[in-house]
Amino acid sequence: YGDPSQKIDYVFKVVLIGDSAVGKSQILARYARDEFSLDSKATIGVEFQTRTLVIDHKSVKAQIWDTAGQERYRAVTSAYYRGAVGAMLVYDITRRQTFDHIPRWLEELRAHADKNIVIILIGNKTDLEDQRAIPTEDAKEFAEKEGLFFLETSAFKATNVESAFTTVLTEIF
Ligand code: GTP
Ligand code: MG
Repeated sequence: YGDPSQKIDYVFKVVLIGDSAVGKSQILARYARDEFSLDSKATIGVEFQTRTLVIDHKSVKAQIWDTAGQERYRAVTSAYYRGAVGAMLVYDITRRQTFDHIPRWLEELRAHADKNIVIILIGNKTDLEDQRAIPTEDAKEFAEKEGLFFLETSAFKATNVESAFTTVLTEIF
C-alpha cells in the first residue's frame, strides 16, 4: 500500500460504463497513472485501479472499476455494481450510437446500483472536435432531465479527466 503510515478514511467504489471503444479504460489510465495509449485493447472481464486523494482533510481511496462495453466480455452485472457509490456513464462525442445507447446503460445502472449512487455523464474525445456528432447542448439537456452531472473530456489531452473524478468523489463525500 505504499506508505503504511497513510491512513485511509474512506474507500469509494466508482464504476465506468458505456459502449465499447468510448475510452473508459483510457480515462481510467489517465486518472490513475497519467498514461494514455492510442492502441488500447478492448477490456475483457473486469479491471480496477485506485487513486488516493484528500477531501476535507480526509484521505479517500477511489477504487475505480472498468469493464468491457462489449456484451460478450462483460463482468457479471450484479457483482460489478455491488457497493458502487459513483458511476461514470461514458459516450464518444464522435459516434452518435454511443450516445443513443446511454438510456440503456442508465436503465441497467438504475436496476442494479444503489438508488443514491452519484452519476456523471461523460462525452469523451473532445480532441476530435472536427468529428463531433453530438452537440454539447443535447447531452447537457439530457443530463439535466435525468439529474446527472455532465462533463466533456479528452483522455488523450487530459482535459477534464481530473474534474470528472473530482466531481463524483466530492459529491459522494
Ligand atoms: P472497451 O474496453 O471495449 O469497453 O472500450 P473502452 O471504452 O475501454 O475504450 P478504450 O479506452 O480502450 O479506448 C478505445 C479507443 O479510443 C483507443 O484507441 C483509445 O486510444 C481511443 N481513445 C480513448 N480516449 C480517447 C480520447 O480522449 N481521444 C482520442 N482521440 N482517442 C481516445
Ligand atoms: Mg476498456
